[in-house]
Amino acid sequence: MAVDLSTFARCDRAPAWAALQQHFAAQGRGFDLRQAFRQDPGRFEAFSQEAPHLFVDLSKNLIDAPAQALLLDLARQCGLEAQRDAMFAGEPINATEGRAVMHFLLRYPAAGAGWMPGAVRNAAGELAEVHRTLDAMLAYAEQVRADTAITDVVNIGIGGSDLGPQMATLALDEFVAPGRRMHFVSNVDGHELDAVLRRLQPRSTLFLVASKTFTTLETMTNARSAREWFLAQGGTADSPARDGRPDVASHFAALTTNVAAAREFGITTTFGFWDWVGGRYSLWSAIGLPIAIAVGAQCFRELLAGAHAMDAHFATAPLERNLPVRLALLDLWYRNFHGFTSRSIAPYHSALRRLPAYLQQLEMESNGKRVDRAGQALPFATSPVLWGEPGTNGQHAYFQMLHQGTDVVPVEFVAVRRAAHRLAGHHEQLLANALAQAQALMQGKDDAGGHRHFTGNRPSTFVLLDRLEPASLGALVALQEHRVFCSGALWGINSFDQWGVELGKVLAKDITPRLASGDAAGLDASTAGLLRRLRT
Ligand code: F6P
Repeated sequence: MAVDLSTFARCDRAPAWAALQQHFAAQGRGFDLRQAFRQDPGRFEAFSQEAPHLFVDLSKNLIDAPAQALLLDLARQCGLEAQRDAMFAGEPINATEGRAVMHFLLRYPAAGAGWMPGAVRNAAGELAEVHRTLDAMLAYAEQVRADTAITDVVNIGIGGSDLGPQMATLALDEFVAPGRRMHFVSNVDGHELDAVLRRLQPRSTLFLVASKTFTTLETMTNARSAREWFLAQGGTADSPARDGRPDVASHFAALTTNVAAAREFGITTTFGFWDWVGGRYSLWSAIGLPIAIAVGAQCFRELLAGAHAMDAHFATAPLERNLPVRLALLDLWYRNFHGFTSRSIAPYHSALRRLPAYLQQLEMESNGKRVDRAGQALPFATSPVLWGEPGTNGQHAYFQMLHQGTDVVPVEFVAVRRAAHRLAGHHEQLLANALAQAQALMQGKDDAGGHRHFTGNRPSTFVLLDRLEPASLGALVALQEHRVFCSGALWGINSFDQWGVELGKVLAKDITPRLASGDAAGLDASTAGLLRRLRT
């Protein structure tokens, strides 16, 4: 019998919600971090924890033990564990699209030992198919890596078909074999593709067309232009190629659930995945091929293993020691009680520079919803705005506002203990700055003059990896995926659809021919006025 998630209590209908409101009014609003540390010498231990491949310090957050206990009550009253188990059992929890949500299956080992999600039993055929595809894709990645003639790999994809692979490829730069350049083209803005193509030769280039649906406007437009460029520069569509010319069949591969459409496009090398993998959860699937080409099959398997370890933690740890749950409860506490509207991501490692962009899609496309699973308008706020830049750069740009602005923005620091370089002094300074910023946000500074006064009491979370390597990156990303699942489950929304992106797509289709024809009939005055200006 399928579990109907809409039968679980929405957070605002659970008894603990009213208790949290009372606690917030009585103590939460006036909570002072400095005092909390003075009163409780065990605060750091109580509000921090190890999880697979990482350590997280939650102690500099505006939360006390009673609030934490009430939030855990809330999680239980909302059936968070049962909702989690429904996902892991492969239930069709993405109800608006009638799909299961099983990205965790992509990282379940072929010879699994220990914790096993229910879906492995319920979808044994799928798991076998996952591993067949993974083996084939990794064999292909190794073949590309061995082919010294291929110097450039261009991933053409957008959203989840771009952000995850790009973020991970950059993050794992230390493990990337030299001699091959990875390019990521996502935007329909031709400047992006043109700037890449200008530096390439067809013979030494491999194009990966990455699209779950194989219908996305940007990706199809870029893929067509790449193919035209390839043919115009001496490539051939003939297969097998004659006269030693580079051929489309060997220089294009597709990563998609819509293998038929890729074949129709003329791409014969295809790696598939399944509709139960959401776009923003797809870097573990064939969409991860650019990562595998960059870092190799072994590292890609370690990435999967790190994520799997986090899956097992999320599935089995008691709620009070369950890291994704603790982060999500804090997110809800900040969004719905403190009223904070955003969260700043501060990766203190330049290889994590695309992490904020990746997390933006993960969180905001998943939980940027205004109705619950039953379609009822929500009386409370959902997804915060996520934003950020690597430290220490951000310190010299917007940290002024974080320290002295009128809004309180919780900051999530991500730091890495061991550097991947040997440049003397840099890493110590980097880490010292991360610690100092978190300290300054909390401590503040008294100054009668006003301008130099820091109120302090500004919250932050500190995520610490020992090394930025495939396994720890996998765990970090899976942690964030599950955290978003938990806040969505508490808010009672479907985190796995994205209807909000549709309207703009439909309107762009209507406007595109109008740019050529000038037909402004039926348009609002502003759009019509802008259309006229663009045509002159
Ligand atoms: O428009 C939003 C979206 O559907 C994302 O959810 C997705 O990651 C992206 O577009 C790309 O979609 P596709 O992989 O099907 O090209």
